[in-house]
Amino acid sequence: MEKYFPQAAFAGRRVHLGVTGSISAYKALDLLRALYKAGLRVSVGLTEAGSRFVSPLSFKTLGAERVYNGMFPAAVARNGGAGELSAGIDLGEGFDPIGHLTPGAWADAFIIYPASATTLARITSGMADEMLAAQALAFPKPLLLAPAMNPRMWQNPATQENCATLRRRGHIILEPEAGRVACNEEGQGKLVDLRIAYLAVLAALSEQDFAGRKLMLTMGPTREQWDGVRFWSNPSTGVMGAAFAVAASLRGAEVHAICGPGCPWLPPAIKRYDILSSREMNAQAQALWPEMDYGIFTAAVADFYPEPFGESKFKKSEAVDGFSISFRPGPDILAGLGRQKAAGQKIVGFAAETSDLQTSVRKKLVAKNADLLVGNLIGVEDSGFAGSQNQVFVADRQGREESWQVMPKAEVAWRVLDWLLRL
Ligand code: C5P
Repeated sequence: MEKYFPQAAFAGRRVHLGVTGSISAYKALDLLRALYKAGLRVSVGLTEAGSRFVSPLSFKTLGAERVYNGMFPAAVARNGGAGELSAGIDLGEGFDPIGHLTPGAWADAFIIYPASATTLARITSGMADEMLAAQALAFPKPLLLAPAMNPRMWQNPATQENCATLRRRGHIILEPEAGRVACNEEGQGKLVDLRIAYLAVLAALSEQDFAGRKLMLTMGPTREQWDGVRFWSNPSTGVMGAAFAVAASLRGAEVHAICGPGCPWLPPAIKRYDILSSREMNAQAQALWPEMDYGIFTAAVADFYPEPFGESKFKKSEAVDGFSISFRPGPDILAGLGRQKAAGQKIVGFAAETSDLQTSVRKKLVAKNADLLVGNLIGVEDSGFAGSQNQVFVADRQGREESWQVMPKAEVAWRVLDWLLRL
């Protein structure tokens, strides 16, 4: 899973993962794995058809605490299930006679990944004749359903109306994707991307403390073109910005991400603006800012851009003894928006320094009219540019300052957002 997805904030939270009869059931193993690695506790419920595609043993081996498969032990044994691993028999703790109710009492969220047309229909009509549907009907917290099926089955009014009803009842439908499905037909019906399902679970578990707020980010490097093929840039990967974008989105913010070249994947809930140069980034930021509550400026913007040579390629033969290029200053996006800041708008800036970190963080906080500044030293091993971790010094305008240990960028983002809400 992507290194900028949050983990620590969700350790110990509990999820029930339902799996139904679809060829895409094998992808549920990856979802279990991702949740497990993030420290979440997971139980699994397989329909009888689901267990024909993937064995309960696979889920148990990959970290599921309990695996339910069928209402009665005998029913599963008859179906050739995996013996004592099936039928709601809890490995080590014995058969759970109220297995249809246990996830509702134990888990904080329930996702069915993939959800077949039958399971959607069962839940819509309240049919509790099967363990997984019964568990869904008895589940009082967020229920997410990720349909996967043949495109004609998906388009059928029965399925569409079931999904509309489920949505109306407050359940979350993770729309299937378009493409070539397992039966080789083209259309909508593919199980939603694993990353989207994973983040949807985390969102369901997150306090929506940024709900109703609009947040803008700049992220990644900028690319300042010189001739037809050459440009001036830096090694920023956009991972720090992506960590902020995802964290704020999970916490309910409307997120607008202005992305330099090479920025990582972002979930579709985030509005993404792909740009190349600092001037394009500035124009997009200027256009968005008046509507925003927060601006987070993680981009490593080129401070200068070369005087352009033009559209064609500069020829080596034209400068056999070398040559010079002159540079012009580009816009300081953060400083410009800091000057235009309206009451209530809050700005977070970044400073990547090679020395005197704390002094320059304090200076930039004031010079750029930021509310919070996050600084890191360049050159610390596995910290800063391109890595998945960061060691930062954070300061705000009220004079509060903290130095944090090396930690994943996703955690830095989560904590800075906590701080931002307290300002
Ligand atoms: O001045 P300096 O580049 O050190 O400031 C870093 C902060 O300012 C970062 O938050 C960066 O995204 C932002 N910045 C900007 N436009 C620039 C240069 C930096 O928005 N041209």
